[in-house]
Amino acid sequence: MRKVIIAANWKMNMTVAETASYIPTFLAETGDDTEVDVVLIPPFTSLPKASELIGEAYSLKLGAQNMSAQKSGAFTGEVSAAMLRELFVRYVLVGHSERRQLFGETDQTVNAKLHAAHEATLKPILCIGETLAERDGGQVEAVLMRQLREGLAGLDHKQIQETVIAYEPVWAIGTGRNATPAQAQEAHALIRSEIGQIAEPAVAERLRIQYGGSVKVSNAGELLGQPDIDGALVGGASLDPRDFAEIAKAAKAAKE
Ligand code: PGA
Repeated sequence: MRKVIIAANWKMNMTVAETASYIPTFLAETGDDTEVDVVLIPPFTSLPKASELIGEAYSLKLGAQNMSAQKSGAFTGEVSAAMLRELFVRYVLVGHSERRQLFGETDQTVNAKLHAAHEATLKPILCIGETLAERDGGQVEAVLMRQLREGLAGLDHKQIQETVIAYEPVWAIGTGRNATPAQAQEAHALIRSEIGQIAEPAVAERLRIQYGGSVKVSNAGELLGQPDIDGALVGGASLDPRDFAEIAKAAKAAKE
């Protein structure tokens, strides 16, 4: 009953010219398949070109990698939710571990961005996940609960249900070492049960939880075969349009 959501986080890769060659190649592989939500998350500079090229391919949606919690004003270098909406952006990553680790984002700034995204009717993808030290120290549950409770604080049940959660163990991101399907399923089940406490069980049943961290063509089917894994947030492997198309197809097949 939860629609699969596969997202391509290009990070700081892909020029406008590269975006222009990626999208037709990707669409040629997948067609306009509306059974799965596929979200491209390019750098800000490629959003206008991406939105122009996607045109009538309704299956393909756009996301942004970050946004400001502020509406407008003297915030040099920042981009607002309204600016993203103007470019037909529907999703926005919030609190990616690289933003937390390299750019000082906290659960509080993440929470402010989630509120701003919902106010602008953008769907946030809230990224959470433990570091290797936290996993080795037996803190997985405590870390995930804190990131969820503080990140989602003050949102109403409808807003929580429309938020996508991306579980991305930090030790699996860009390392080639993905969580095993069993490890990922265990974390996703924990997250879903915690959402049931923060909101209510019906909200938790409908909310989508993506796995991220070294997802590739060879492991996507097995990961997506887990009952609480509703999609994938793909970094490195999404930079090749054919690989990303294969991942989207594998995800869909895993749920059939
Ligand atoms: P990766 O990145 O697929 O390259 O591990 C995932 C992410 O950071 O979203």
